[in-house]
Amino acid sequence: MSAVLKAPVAPYADVPKREFTPGPANTEITIRGLTKHFAGWPLYENFDLDIPKHKIVSVFGPNGCGKSTLINMIAGLVPTDSGEILFDGKSLKDTKIGYVFQNYREAMFPWMRTIDNIAYPLKLEGRSKAEVDRRMEELVASFDVKFDLRRYPYELSGGQQQTASIMRALANQPEVLFLDEPFSALDFEMTLFIREKLQEAFMQTGTTMLLVSHDLEEAVYPPTRCCC
Ligand SMILES: Nc1ncnc2c1ncn2[C@@H]1O[C@H](COP(=O)(O)OP(=O)(O)OP(=O)(O)O)[C@@H](O)[C@H]1O
Ligand SMILES: [Mg+2]
Repeated sequence: MSAVLKAPVAPYADVPKREFTPGPANTEITIRGLTKHFAGWPLYENFDLDIPKHKIVSVFGPNGCGKSTLINMIAGLVPTDSGEILFDGKSLKDTKIGYVFQNYREAMFPWMRTIDNIAYPLKLEGRSKAEVDRRMEELVASFDVKFDLRRYPYELSGGQQQTASIMRALANQPEVLFLDEPFSALDFEMTLFIREKLQEAFMQTGTTMLLVSHDLEEAVYPPTRCCC
Protein backbone atom coordinates (compact mmCIF):
# COMPACT_ATOMS: atom_id res chain seq x y z
CA MET A 1 0.00 0.00 0.00
CA SER A 2 2.79 2.41 0.96
CA ALA A 3 4.46 1.55 -2.36
CA VAL A 4 1.30 2.63 -4.15
CA LEU A 5 1.17 5.90 -2.18
CA LYS A 6 4.81 6.57 -3.04
CA ALA A 7 4.40 5.70 -6.72
CA PRO A 8 6.94 7.62 -8.83
CA VAL A 9 5.87 10.69 -10.71
CA ALA A 10 5.63 9.90 -14.42
CA PRO A 11 8.78 11.15 -16.13
CA TYR A 12 7.27 11.16 -19.61
CA ALA A 13 6.33 14.85 -19.58
CA ASP A 14 10.02 15.80 -19.87
CA VAL A 15 10.95 13.28 -22.57
CA PRO A 16 11.86 15.18 -25.76
CA LYS A 17 9.98 14.07 -28.89
CA ARG A 18 12.14 11.66 -30.88
CA GLU A 19 12.54 11.78 -34.61
CA PHE A 20 10.35 9.13 -36.22
CA THR A 21 12.45 6.32 -37.75
CA PRO A 22 10.51 4.22 -40.26
CA GLY A 23 10.69 0.43 -40.02
CA PRO A 24 12.08 -1.88 -42.73
CA ALA A 25 10.21 -2.34 -46.01
CA ASN A 26 6.95 -4.24 -45.62
CA THR A 27 6.25 -3.03 -42.10
CA GLU A 28 2.53 -2.81 -41.31
CA ILE A 29 2.67 -1.26 -37.84
CA THR A 30 5.54 0.95 -36.70
CA ILE A 31 5.68 1.75 -32.99
CA ARG A 32 8.17 4.35 -31.79
CA GLY A 33 8.88 5.63 -28.31
CA LEU A 34 5.67 4.22 -26.87
CA THR A 35 5.29 5.11 -23.21
CA LYS A 36 2.43 4.19 -20.89
CA HIS A 37 2.19 4.56 -17.12
CA PHE A 38 -0.60 3.42 -14.83
CA ALA A 39 -0.81 5.28 -11.50
CA GLY A 40 2.70 6.61 -12.06
CA TRP A 41 4.22 3.17 -12.68
CA PRO A 42 5.75 2.45 -16.09
CA LEU A 43 4.28 -0.37 -18.17
CA TYR A 44 5.94 0.69 -21.44
CA GLU A 45 8.83 3.14 -21.70
CA ASN A 46 10.25 4.25 -25.03
CA PHE A 47 9.07 1.01 -26.60
CA ASP A 48 9.78 0.39 -30.31
CA LEU A 49 8.35 -2.42 -32.43
CA ASP A 50 7.92 -3.16 -36.13
CA ILE A 51 5.11 -5.52 -37.04
CA PRO A 52 5.48 -6.93 -40.56
CA LYS A 53 2.70 -6.72 -43.13
CA HIS A 54 0.75 -9.83 -44.18
CA LYS A 55 1.99 -11.91 -41.25
CA ILE A 56 0.41 -13.43 -38.19
CA VAL A 57 2.35 -12.13 -35.19
CA SER A 58 1.87 -13.43 -31.68
CA VAL A 59 2.30 -11.35 -28.53
CA PHE A 60 3.10 -13.81 -25.78
CA GLY A 61 3.69 -13.28 -22.06
CA PRO A 62 2.42 -13.99 -18.54
CA ASN A 63 -0.72 -12.50 -16.95
CA GLY A 64 -0.43 -8.79 -16.31
CA CYS A 65 2.69 -8.18 -18.44
CA GLY A 66 0.87 -5.69 -20.68
CA LYS A 67 -0.31 -7.66 -23.74
CA SER A 68 -3.89 -6.33 -23.82
CA THR A 69 -2.73 -2.80 -23.04
CA LEU A 70 -0.30 -2.97 -25.97
CA ILE A 71 -2.87 -4.00 -28.56
CA ASN A 72 -5.46 -1.66 -27.05
CA MET A 73 -3.03 1.23 -27.50
CA ILE A 74 -2.24 0.18 -31.09
CA ALA A 75 -5.98 -0.11 -31.82
CA GLY A 76 -6.65 3.31 -30.28
CA LEU A 77 -8.78 1.95 -27.42
CA VAL A 78 -6.40 3.01 -24.64
CA PRO A 79 -4.59 6.36 -24.86
CA THR A 80 -0.79 6.39 -24.88
CA ASP A 81 1.23 8.80 -22.74
CA SER A 82 3.60 9.45 -25.62
CA GLY A 83 4.99 7.85 -28.73
CA GLU A 84 3.85 7.30 -32.30
CA ILE A 85 2.07 4.43 -34.01
CA LEU A 86 1.69 4.32 -37.78
CA PHE A 87 -0.05 1.79 -40.01
CA ASP A 88 1.91 1.44 -43.25
CA GLY A 89 2.71 5.13 -42.87
CA LYS A 90 -0.96 6.02 -42.26
CA SER A 91 -2.78 6.90 -39.08
CA LEU A 92 -5.25 4.58 -37.37
CA LYS A 93 -8.27 6.47 -38.72
CA ASP A 94 -7.20 5.63 -42.28
CA THR A 95 -6.81 1.94 -41.51
CA LYS A 96 -9.53 -0.72 -41.45
CA ILE A 97 -9.15 -2.77 -38.30
CA GLY A 98 -10.99 -5.65 -36.65
CA TYR A 99 -10.82 -6.50 -32.95
CA VAL A 100 -11.68 -9.61 -30.94
CA PHE A 101 -11.91 -8.53 -27.30
CA GLN A 102 -10.56 -10.57 -24.40
CA ASN A 103 -13.79 -9.88 -22.48
CA TYR A 104 -15.95 -11.11 -25.37
CA ARG A 105 -19.02 -11.33 -23.08
CA GLU A 106 -19.17 -7.54 -22.85
CA ALA A 107 -18.06 -6.86 -26.40
CA MET A 108 -21.39 -7.35 -28.18
CA PHE A 109 -24.30 -4.93 -28.20
CA PRO A 110 -26.83 -6.70 -25.94
CA TRP A 111 -29.85 -5.06 -27.58
CA MET A 112 -28.92 -6.41 -31.02
CA ARG A 113 -29.41 -9.96 -32.26
CA THR A 114 -26.14 -11.83 -32.82
CA ILE A 115 -26.52 -11.66 -36.60
CA ASP A 116 -26.89 -7.86 -36.42
CA ASN A 117 -23.85 -7.62 -34.15
CA ILE A 118 -21.81 -9.54 -36.74
CA ALA A 119 -23.12 -7.36 -39.58
CA TYR A 120 -22.50 -4.14 -37.66
CA PRO A 121 -19.04 -3.30 -39.15
CA LEU A 122 -20.53 -3.66 -42.66
CA LYS A 123 -23.45 -1.35 -41.82
CA LEU A 124 -21.03 1.13 -40.27
CA GLU A 125 -19.18 1.23 -43.60
CA GLY A 126 -22.47 2.12 -45.31
CA ARG A 127 -22.67 -1.09 -47.38
CA SER A 128 -25.95 -1.71 -49.20
CA LYS A 129 -28.41 -4.29 -47.83
CA ALA A 130 -27.58 -6.61 -50.74
CA GLU A 131 -23.85 -6.38 -49.98
CA VAL A 132 -24.41 -6.97 -46.27
CA ASP A 133 -26.64 -9.99 -47.00
CA ARG A 134 -24.11 -11.46 -49.44
CA ARG A 135 -21.19 -11.12 -47.03
CA MET A 136 -23.22 -12.49 -44.12
CA GLU A 137 -24.28 -15.55 -46.16
CA GLU A 138 -20.62 -16.11 -47.07
CA LEU A 139 -19.47 -15.82 -43.44
CA VAL A 140 -22.21 -18.03 -42.02
CA ALA A 141 -21.50 -20.72 -44.63
CA SER A 142 -17.77 -20.51 -44.04
CA PHE A 143 -18.11 -20.86 -40.25
CA ASP A 144 -20.68 -23.64 -40.61
CA VAL A 145 -22.57 -22.08 -37.69
CA LYS A 146 -24.63 -24.61 -35.73
CA PHE A 147 -26.36 -22.16 -33.35
CA ASP A 148 -29.16 -19.69 -34.02
CA LEU A 149 -27.69 -16.33 -34.97
CA ARG A 150 -31.07 -14.66 -34.46
CA ARG A 151 -30.61 -15.13 -30.72
CA TYR A 152 -29.34 -12.30 -28.53
CA PRO A 153 -25.70 -12.59 -27.33
CA TYR A 154 -26.75 -13.26 -23.72
CA GLU A 155 -28.63 -16.35 -24.97
CA LEU A 156 -25.41 -17.88 -26.33
CA SER A 157 -22.72 -19.90 -24.57
CA GLY A 158 -19.29 -18.35 -24.02
CA GLY A 159 -17.80 -20.31 -26.92
CA GLN A 160 -20.68 -19.31 -29.23
CA GLN A 161 -20.23 -15.64 -28.25
CA GLN A 162 -16.51 -15.87 -28.94
CA THR A 163 -17.17 -17.47 -32.35
CA ALA A 164 -19.62 -14.65 -33.15
CA SER A 165 -17.03 -12.06 -32.03
CA ILE A 166 -14.48 -13.55 -34.42
CA MET A 167 -17.05 -13.56 -37.26
CA ARG A 168 -17.80 -9.89 -36.55
CA ALA A 169 -14.12 -9.00 -36.58
CA LEU A 170 -13.68 -10.68 -39.97
CA ALA A 171 -16.93 -9.35 -41.48
CA ASN A 172 -15.51 -6.31 -43.25
CA GLN A 173 -12.19 -7.96 -44.19
CA PRO A 174 -9.93 -5.68 -42.13
CA GLU A 175 -6.36 -4.78 -43.06
CA VAL A 176 -5.26 -5.46 -39.48
CA LEU A 177 -6.95 -7.86 -37.08
CA PHE A 178 -6.33 -7.76 -33.31
CA LEU A 179 -7.15 -10.94 -31.40
CA ASP A 180 -6.92 -10.87 -27.61
CA GLU A 181 -6.97 -14.45 -26.27
CA PRO A 182 -9.47 -15.44 -29.00
CA PHE A 183 -9.60 -19.13 -28.10
CA SER A 184 -10.07 -18.76 -24.33
CA ALA A 185 -13.70 -20.00 -24.29
CA LEU A 186 -13.47 -22.51 -27.12
CA ASP A 187 -13.28 -26.27 -26.72
CA PHE A 188 -10.41 -28.13 -28.40
CA GLU A 189 -12.30 -28.95 -31.58
CA MET A 190 -13.64 -25.41 -31.93
CA THR A 191 -10.16 -23.96 -31.33
CA LEU A 192 -8.80 -26.02 -34.22
CA PHE A 193 -11.76 -24.99 -36.39
CA ILE A 194 -11.42 -21.26 -35.63
CA ARG A 195 -7.66 -21.41 -36.21
CA GLU A 196 -8.40 -22.89 -39.62
CA LYS A 197 -10.90 -20.09 -40.35
CA LEU A 198 -8.38 -17.43 -39.34
CA GLN A 199 -5.78 -19.05 -41.56
CA GLU A 200 -8.30 -19.18 -44.43
CA ALA A 201 -9.04 -15.45 -43.97
CA PHE A 202 -5.31 -14.80 -43.84
CA MET A 203 -4.68 -16.75 -47.07
CA GLN A 204 -7.58 -15.01 -48.85
CA THR A 205 -6.95 -11.40 -47.81
CA GLY A 206 -3.42 -11.30 -46.33
CA THR A 207 -4.82 -9.55 -43.24
CA THR A 208 -2.04 -8.74 -40.78
CA MET A 209 -2.99 -10.41 -37.50
CA LEU A 210 -1.79 -9.61 -34.01
CA LEU A 211 -2.64 -12.50 -31.72
CA VAL A 212 -2.32 -12.09 -27.96
CA SER A 213 -1.92 -15.19 -25.83
CA HIS A 214 -0.44 -16.33 -22.56
CA ASP A 215 -0.59 -19.92 -23.81
CA LEU A 216 2.65 -20.92 -25.53
CA GLU A 217 1.02 -23.54 -27.73
CA GLU A 218 -1.57 -21.00 -28.94
CA ALA A 219 1.11 -18.37 -29.42
CA VAL A 220 3.39 -20.42 -31.67
CA TYR A 221 0.67 -21.93 -33.86
CA PRO A 222 -0.37 -20.56 -36.33
CA PRO A 223 1.67 -17.32 -35.93
CA THR A 224 4.64 -16.82 -38.20
CA ARG A 225 6.36 -14.43 -35.77
CA CYS A 226 6.32 -14.26 -32.00
CA CYS A 227 7.27 -11.36 -29.70
CA CYS A 228 7.40 -11.78 -25.91
N1 LIG B 1 -7.01 0.83 -16.56
C1 LIG B 1 -6.00 0.42 -15.80
N2 LIG B 1 -5.67 1.09 -14.68
C2 LIG B 1 -4.60 0.73 -13.91
N3 LIG B 1 -3.80 -0.31 -14.20
C3 LIG B 1 -4.09 -1.01 -15.31
C4 LIG B 1 -5.19 -0.69 -16.17
N4 LIG B 1 -5.20 -1.55 -17.20
C5 LIG B 1 -4.18 -2.39 -16.99
N5 LIG B 1 -3.50 -2.07 -15.87
C6 LIG B 1 -2.31 -2.76 -15.34
O1 LIG B 1 -1.38 -2.93 -16.40
C7 LIG B 1 -0.79 -4.21 -16.33
C8 LIG B 1 -0.98 -4.93 -17.67
O2 LIG B 1 -2.36 -5.22 -17.87
P1 LIG B 1 -2.86 -5.99 -19.17
O3 LIG B 1 -4.34 -6.11 -19.09
O4 LIG B 1 -2.29 -5.31 -20.37
O5 LIG B 1 -2.13 -7.40 -18.97
P2 LIG B 1 -2.20 -8.72 -19.88
O6 LIG B 1 -0.78 -9.06 -20.26
O7 LIG B 1 -3.15 -8.55 -21.00
O8 LIG B 1 -2.72 -9.78 -18.83
P3 LIG B 1 -3.70 -11.08 -19.02
O9 LIG B 1 -2.85 -12.18 -19.61
O10 LIG B 1 -4.11 -11.39 -17.61
O11 LIG B 1 -4.84 -10.69 -19.89
C9 LIG B 1 -1.43 -4.95 -15.15
O12 LIG B 1 -0.52 -4.91 -14.08
C10 LIG B 1 -2.67 -4.15 -14.85
O13 LIG B 1 -2.95 -4.12 -13.47
MG1 LIG C 1 -5.03 -9.40 -21.39
